[in-house]
Amino acid sequence: MCGIFGCISKDSPVAPIIIQGLKRLEYRGYDSVGVATLYNERIEVRKDAGKIDEVNNRLRFSEMKGSIGIGHTRWATHGAPTMVNAHPHSDCNGEITLIHNGVIENFLEIKEELLNKGHNFVSRTDTEVVAHLIEEEFKNSSTLEEAFLKALRRIRGSYAIALISSKEPERIFCARNESPLVLGVSEKGVFCASDVPAMLPYTNKIAWVKNGEAAVLDSEGFTIVRIEDNSKIERGLTEITWTLEMAEKQGYPHFMVKEIFEQPQSLRNALRIQKQYMDLLTTFLDRGREIFLVAAGTSYHACLAASYLFSKFARLVTYPVVSSEFIENYGSSIGIDSVVLAVSQSGETFDTLKAVDYARMRAATILAVTNTVGSTLTRVSRAYIVQQSGPEIGVAATKTFTSQLIILAQLGVRLARMRGKISQDDLDEIEGVFKIMPDYVEKALENNSSKVEVLSKKYSGERVFLFLGRGVSSATALEGRLKLLELGYVPALAYPAGESKHGPISVIEEGTPCIFLCPKGETRKEIIGSIMEMKARGARIISICEEGDAEIIGLSEDYLEMPKGIPEPLSPIVYVAPLQLFAYHFACNRGADPDKPRNLAKSVTVP
Ligand code: M6R
Repeated sequence: MCGIFGCISKDSPVAPIIIQGLKRLEYRGYDSVGVATLYNERIEVRKDAGKIDEVNNRLRFSEMKGSIGIGHTRWATHGAPTMVNAHPHSDCNGEITLIHNGVIENFLEIKEELLNKGHNFVSRTDTEVVAHLIEEEFKNSSTLEEAFLKALRRIRGSYAIALISSKEPERIFCARNESPLVLGVSEKGVFCASDVPAMLPYTNKIAWVKNGEAAVLDSEGFTIVRIEDNSKIERGLTEITWTLEMAEKQGYPHFMVKEIFEQPQSLRNALRIQKQYMDLLTTFLDRGREIFLVAAGTSYHACLAASYLFSKFARLVTYPVVSSEFIENYGSSIGIDSVVLAVSQSGETFDTLKAVDYARMRAATILAVTNTVGSTLTRVSRAYIVQQSGPEIGVAATKTFTSQLIILAQLGVRLARMRGKISQDDLDEIEGVFKIMPDYVEKALENNSSKVEVLSKKYSGERVFLFLGRGVSSATALEGRLKLLELGYVPALAYPAGESKHGPISVIEEGTPCIFLCPKGETRKEIIGSIMEMKARGARIISICEEGDAEIIGLSEDYLEMPKGIPEPLSPIVYVAPLQLFAYHFACNRGADPDKPRNLAKSVTVP
């Protein structure tokens, strides 16, 4: 996730302060770095792909003059990680220069409008559009602040922006919508940044900028206004007592739990993916004679859920395949009419890339969903979608799983529309539900986090767990099981509930914990039957069910209630959240490190 840092220094050159600030944002992950400073009413920009120290050695950021400046670490979302795409970005004349963290949803339409008005663009980023839009708005504004606010009112999406301009060389302008932005004030200067760690060496007196707010910084402090109507907001400084390590995790004890709670935001980002990429993938998928959904680990579970979604929404049969099995199982039948949709957070998983290479050699169409722009997978794919989850530092996949799901679900609905398998009303309804999925996840986490912690303690001595679900929930069960076994080191089982009486039921003894996924929907009658079977043999039933589902609650020793109204095919996106939290607390209770489970790597790049 990009890091932004801006500073008006009171008594020393700003460039070394910016470099230090950016280094403290390195933990967020990045692929390129850039700095802009203002000196003698002129802006100088230096930037390139690479790590801070290495780029600094080459470009000598520290020698840049001026006491006001901005710096950025970029984690590519639109456009490859290159020098040209690195931030800061400027308007046509280099008079307005800015940095951005987030995704501008409507950048293509604004870019087209500005191209028609004669603006020159050099990068492929969404960010550069904002600099040109402010330049355009400035033509009909009396101040830069007015132009800035007008431009902000036109852009949709997520952003934390910091801007310097030779038109107002004493100030930094910044704004926030859904991407974090914090201000700080000290004797040394005035600061803005994506995150508290960047300014901790200088101050612990900070103010959070909220969604829909803009701020103007000068050497004395800052003023905050509402973007909508330019009304002034009074906000005092808060003194924080976080250590650097706590600040990097935003006060959470581990990255994993921070990432679990980031899911509402990462889902919102995933819902903003450019429609033309979605359309491209949908067209290729529609043309395939057979479609293979190829992935490993958690990404495979997303594929498994997607196969149910493609079938339910678009009446399309797809084959979810564990990537290491793909060549053995399907290799000989792959040909020019085959489509391989590879799903990989890292885009570097060895087995997935091997499967993809094999299919490419046989002329199959390769499509991808990944979290990593510029990864090998993006380079070998005909078309791909970048899921915009931001870097995931915890080894266990959490936020990247739910983002993969919501992207695959949207592809399923688009396929349904393309194939004429969905009515206008159903289409409107499901698209309406997509928009509120992040809120459902937020509510599920809020309402259940303390209860999950209590349950994780209650069951912390157990040596085996069963996870059962039917239909699409069998994918949720598998993912819940994977989280618990990889973090809590418990050899848990997961099955489609209907399979349980074909074997797994034999492990049930008095008191065996059995976690059931019970969203309301077509599978409900059967799941109640499975609960009864397990209960009759002494299992302790822990159910994840819809709020107020008296029948399921009545059969359960413990239960976690999910918000009402989630369509069953989309339920894994919400129902997996308590299972992620359960595994997290379970690992903590046992003294294991949930961020770095033993024997596991974040990205498996070896055979
Ligand atoms: O980067 P990928 O999505 O291709 O990674 C696939 C798996 O290695 C990954 O999901 C792994 O299973 C995680 N540890 C799950 O939490």
